[in-house]
Amino acid sequence: MRTTITQASVAVVGASLFVAYFSLGLSNQPVKAARLDPVERGRYLVSTMGCHDCHTPKKMGPHGPELDLSRALSGHPEGSVLPPAPKPQGPWVATATWDLTAWSGPWGVSYPFNLTPDENTGLGSWSEETFIKAMRTGRHMGASRPILPPMPWESVASLNDEDIRSLYAYLRSLPPIHNRVPEPIIAGEPAAVD
Ligand code: HEC
Repeated sequence: MRTTITQASVAVVGASLFVAYFSLGLSNQPVKAARLDPVERGRYLVSTMGCHDCHTPKKMGPHGPELDLSRALSGHPEGSVLPPAPKPQGPWVATATWDLTAWSGPWGVSYPFNLTPDENTGLGSWSEETFIKAMRTGRHMGASRPILPPMPWESVASLNDEDIRSLYAYLRSLPPIHNRVPEPIIAGEPAAVD
């Protein structure tokens, strides 16, 4: 009798483990699928890594500046006229505009780029290889001048290839926004415009 009960309990426990394992497997499926979708993974990385903070223009809300998602990731707004940046003084070396889309410091003046896939003003003409190279080397378009602060390219460079590709896939999926970001002013070099 005892043996029978034990055998029965073993069978029940075994069956529940099997059901648990099976249902875990089932409930894991959508999570795995979401993880593998590069666009969704890229959206997640862009929002958690703070890309919007600098690359999305802001609008003033009741509690201060808010992301203007109608212009998501389109960079420093073209045509916004700024006075010259204040000179760095003492320990205060870097300055940003209220919307964080223009920065000045010992490196000069930099403007977060248009990350939407607009052909002429954004990442439209960038291949995946160009994007990966820029983020891995910290060189503009992966080949020329150094990418200026405060672009945290080192953080992006610490992602694995699959994640960098996901960033690219998500940015390519955005609606293209025509917005020409000014050329940076590089300290020690004459300004291109003005
Ligand atoms: C703290 C502000 C800041 C944050 C956060 C930020 N960026 Fe930038 N980003 C910039 C600035 C400023 C530039 C322009 C730098 C220049 O002109 O050299 C830039 C330029 C770029 C460029 C163009 C690089 C090139 O080759 O010229 C890409 C691509 C880019 N950012 C992607 C991203 C992504 C993806 C994220 C989020 C993981 C991100 N940025 C987060 C400030 C930022």
